[in-house]
Amino acid sequence: MSITTCVFDAYGTLFDVAAAARQAASEPDFSKLESTWPALAEHWRLKQLQYTWLRAVTDDHCDFWEVTQQGLDWALEKTGLAGDAALRERLLALYWELQSYPEVPDMLRQLKAGGMATAILSNGSPDMLRGAVTSAGIDALLDDTLSVQSVGVFKPDARVYDLVAKRFGCDKKEVLFVSSNGWDAGCATGYGFTTAWVNRAGDPVDRLPWTPAHILSDLTGIPALAGL
Ligand code: LAC
Repeated sequence: MSITTCVFDAYGTLFDVAAAARQAASEPDFSKLESTWPALAEHWRLKQLQYTWLRAVTDDHCDFWEVTQQGLDWALEKTGLAGDAALRERLLALYWELQSYPEVPDMLRQLKAGGMATAILSNGSPDMLRGAVTSAGIDALLDDTLSVQSVGVFKPDARVYDLVAKRFGCDKKEVLFVSSNGWDAGCATGYGFTTAWVNRAGDPVDRLPWTPAHILSDLTGIPALAGL
């Protein structure tokens, strides 16, 4: 079955989540982040994701913004930066205006020129996603931005992946689902999407019952995987 619909995870896939800590570290007010920002960014991301999984399995959903703040608070304490209110505020503000990876606009333009439907499917709240999509300037290249908020549970619950076929009226196999999260790409494979894992860091494949159909080092190969 050929691909008609290309769906992207947002954070880490289209938008560079490490950019917030990297940017703050380059600002004179926060130069103390110079050596610690990579660890801060990694702890922040991992805790944010762990909290989404725990919220999903305990059926205690909340806004993604809440776990984003809680993950940051844990990471600041872990890296000895708790109590710096200005730094916390700056990092959270930067999270609303993350830049996309450089190849994103051209890759989306190729998909649209080839007649593909394009969308984001993300844990992010609609407000957060609107902020990131607008600051990256890619709104016109996406047919929709689907948020877990409408089903009240985080990925990888199948109700989230169900949003795609409901919105586009397509078969699962016509969907190329793209994520930089190995667990998201793996679980979406189990769900029935054709999947691509964007493995920028060269990480090992997650030990899950399902392996992504394709593994790429960035997003430039997506139009070819979609059959363009
Ligand atoms: C998202 C997170 C998982 O955008 O990256 O859904």
